[in-house]
Amino acid sequence: MVQVISPVIELLKSGAAATDAALERLLPGTETAPHSIHRAMRHSVFAGGKRLRPILCIEAARMVAGTIPYGVADLGSAIEMIHTYSLIHDDLPALDNDDLRRGKPTSHVVFGEAIAILTGDALQTLAYETLSHLACPAEATVQIVREIAVATGTGVGPTDGTGLPYGMIGGQVLDIEGEGSKPTVDQVDRIHRAKTGALITVSIVTGGIYAGVSTETVEHLRRFGQRAGLAFQIVDDVLDMTQSSEDLGKTAGKDTASDKATWPAVFGIEASLAQADALIEEAFAELESYGVAAEPLKATARYLVERKT
Ligand code: IPE
Ligand code: IPE
Ligand code: MG
Ligand code: MG
Ligand code: MG
Repeated sequence: MVQVISPVIELLKSGAAATDAALERLLPGTETAPHSIHRAMRHSVFAGGKRLRPILCIEAARMVAGTIPYGVADLGSAIEMIHTYSLIHDDLPALDNDDLRRGKPTSHVVFGEAIAILTGDALQTLAYETLSHLACPAEATVQIVREIAVATGTGVGPTDGTGLPYGMIGGQVLDIEGEGSKPTVDQVDRIHRAKTGALITVSIVTGGIYAGVSTETVEHLRRFGQRAGLAFQIVDDVLDMTQSSEDLGKTAGKDTASDKATWPAVFGIEASLAQADALIEEAFAELESYGVAAEPLKATARYLVERKT
């Protein structure tokens, strides 16, 4: 029997492979002292993440430049380091208290809480070191650093205009403080856009900046990313309720057990999935001017809502 491999699976595989190769080069080896933290950094980074943020970054750059620009995998890897740091801290006993991540015991379970906290810190530091020597013009590098710092912080977003927390840490604060009370639509919308949407958005936006996008197109990429990022977290909430821990590589049913403010807690599973699909369609409208060049980025975004893990 001939096995048909869809183009999007190929694209995901090659994006993940390029990211893994860059991460392998960028992370200190386990023979480097202090050994414990370098083992811990590699434990979480190479545990089998989907690499969706770097892939979105690479595809946004490919769409803008017409080809994958030299060195963009380093930018994607820096974003993956920040994402992995956020997962290590998200799993800590003081936050979500999870013992399974990417199919492996969480960092604090294997290395203890102190090293897990420091591992998150070290991945964030290494991410910015990596950004400092990107192979794009210095002006673009400064813009990329600012975009990523804002998207992962506690401040108000660049085009957000709501005056509410926008960045990843701001979102994590709202997520933790929202536990145990009945969530409202506005609350869960804000949490999801901030804790997850902002990093996904910035992966796409900075991919474009790396490739030399115009100011106008940056805003199209931003609106595309905001919709795709929200859809991604809606699906994350649904999968928590519908998949097994084995399939997810993380503890299923955790949100309900912790009384989290989730999308399905407000809208139910079916409406949540329909809204995620609708957000992806809305996102696509932002890329119209790119024509067929946008297809790989669109296919990646569609995967964000069709995935089962
Ligand atoms: C999980 O993200 C954490 C969220 C922001 C919901 P992913 O589903 O992308 O996790 P990995 O990187 O593949 O492990
Ligand atoms: C995690 O959200 C968001 C960040 C790590 C910033 P979740 O708590 O929903 O992620 P999972 O479900 O543990 O992967
Ligand atoms: Mg969490
Ligand atoms: Mg969690
Ligand atoms: Mg979740």
